[in-house]
Amino acid sequence: MKHLLAPAGLALLVVSTNVSAADGKAVYTQICRACHATGVAGAPILGDRDAWAARVPAGLEALQQSALRGKGGMPPKGGNPGLADSQVKAAVEYMVSQSR
Ligand code: HEC
Repeated sequence: MKHLLAPAGLALLVVSTNVSAADGKAVYTQICRACHATGVAGAPILGDRDAWAARVPAGLEALQQSALRGKGGMPPKGGNPGLADSQVKAAVEYMVSQSR
């Protein structure tokens, strides 16, 4: 799994100096979706308002810290240490924006 994700991480590093909302979507699609599309290990599914309703009130920053540091079945940065912090944060923003 980690091996398969590595090339995506390297490609994403190239754009890490100027992270936009579009990058958040790209990071989600390439990395986070592996778990957050189907709910692997209990991951809250993108677009599932009920699943996110319990988490969103914690605040965007708290959710971003969870994604950066890892939480429960989620490894830090979704298991892709090559991602810049700003890329992970943009991906969280994208996921939350799609799920409330
Ligand atoms: C290996 C599977 C996996 C991958 C890959 C993954 N996640 Fe998760 N994620 C989880 C699981 C499982 C949880 C639920 C953790 C818990 O609450 O115990 C979670 C929870 C979260 C939460 C909610 C945290 C909270 O405090 O409630 C956010 C935000 C999140 N993930 C963002 C991301 C982002 C952004 C990425 C991509 C960079 C990502 N995840 C990749 C499995 C994954």
